[in-house]
Amino acid sequence: MSLDQAAIADVKELATTRQAGFALPGAFYTSQAVFDHDIKSFWNRNWIWVGHVSQVPEPGNFFRFDYGAESVVVVRDRQSEIRAHVNVCRHRGSRVCLEASGKTSVLSCPYHAWTYDLDGSLRTEREMDADFNRADYSLFSASLKIFQGLIFVCLSDQPPDLQPALERLAPLTKPFGIENLKVAHSASYPVPANWKLALENYLECYHCAPAHKEYSRSHSLKDPASMTEELLSALAENSSLAGLPVAELNETGPDAENLGSDIYYRRYPLYPGYKTGSRSGKPVAPLVGELTGYDGGATDVMIGPLNSFLAYADYIVGYRFVPRTLQETDIQIVWMVRGDAVEGRDYTIDDLTWLWDVTSQDDERIIRYNQQGVNSVAFRPGPLSNMEWGIETFYHGYLQRIGE
Ligand code: FES
Ligand SMILES: [Fe+2]
Repeated sequence: MSLDQAAIADVKELATTRQAGFALPGAFYTSQAVFDHDIKSFWNRNWIWVGHVSQVPEPGNFFRFDYGAESVVVVRDRQSEIRAHVNVCRHRGSRVCLEASGKTSVLSCPYHAWTYDLDGSLRTEREMDADFNRADYSLFSASLKIFQGLIFVCLSDQPPDLQPALERLAPLTKPFGIENLKVAHSASYPVPANWKLALENYLECYHCAPAHKEYSRSHSLKDPASMTEELLSALAENSSLAGLPVAELNETGPDAENLGSDIYYRRYPLYPGYKTGSRSGKPVAPLVGELTGYDGGATDVMIGPLNSFLAYADYIVGYRFVPRTLQETDIQIVWMVRGDAVEGRDYTIDDLTWLWDVTSQDDERIIRYNQQGVNSVAFRPGPLSNMEWGIETFYHGYLQRIGE
């Protein structure tokens, strides 16, 4: 058995040691072998939301997305097709694309200048033998899926089949006109913690009341008892305008037939006086999609285990918890508004981002403290509360996947 195989066998063994209804054992957040296995067996084999079609409007537009040791370049090629290339040169492996985003006519390796076309095929190289066959050395491609303008990539050539789940989700997200949005702002909040602690934090609102003063003022999700029939039916009546059910659709978890088909949808009311997630409660951007009023609804959507969105009537936020190293994670927040909205006239970055900026700063802090405690010899996994079912659901899919 190689060292690698031994480490993987240990991780699989570890995956069986978790007690149902309890947090994961500490090694899941402190072991380099687990982290390496997480990237290979979980991140590389799940769909990752990397961006929006508006970020690559024309041939030559590209952006890079990195996680763990991996890097992917999303580019619109000359035929106007969006492609995802693995950012590893086929010569001796250098990163090819170094910029975070931009516009280019070719992808040229900074090391020995092998140059690739936007479709990934090798176009020029120097001093190779006469029998060198360019066609054998295209950039590797990642699997790519576009759902209502959202771009997903997966490094596996056998990615989970999301299609049936997305077909069920499509009518619920269609009214938001996601394909016609644009990215108004993105921010990264680096946290010295394992990516799973950052994701788990997002998956429960048990911490919302004690940790998020601003969020809790407006979002009834912080306290199930405050989500009264009166609030729910008021939103349901309002929302009939857009045909959106005020309900929960959860096709993740122990009962899901196919873990790769995970989607989650939940629409719930903000407190009276709040039309959207903003400091004043007033709208901060023009209505999105087909919505005809600022109805005070908040809609949570998850696509696969790694990608979360929250839709208000005027903007949509995307959340990712991107692993860098064992205990370094970027909390990435992306704010999207109507594609034709003009900054300064229709929205300002300050007002648009205020809520999820303060909330993400709170999250950075609590996740950091969480990792510090988990690193202690005294840490023992404690029992999950009734408000942490989202974590239980995540563990189920995660442990199954890494144990395969
Ligand atoms: S590693 Fe890219 S050209 Fe040599
Ligand atoms: Fe939070």
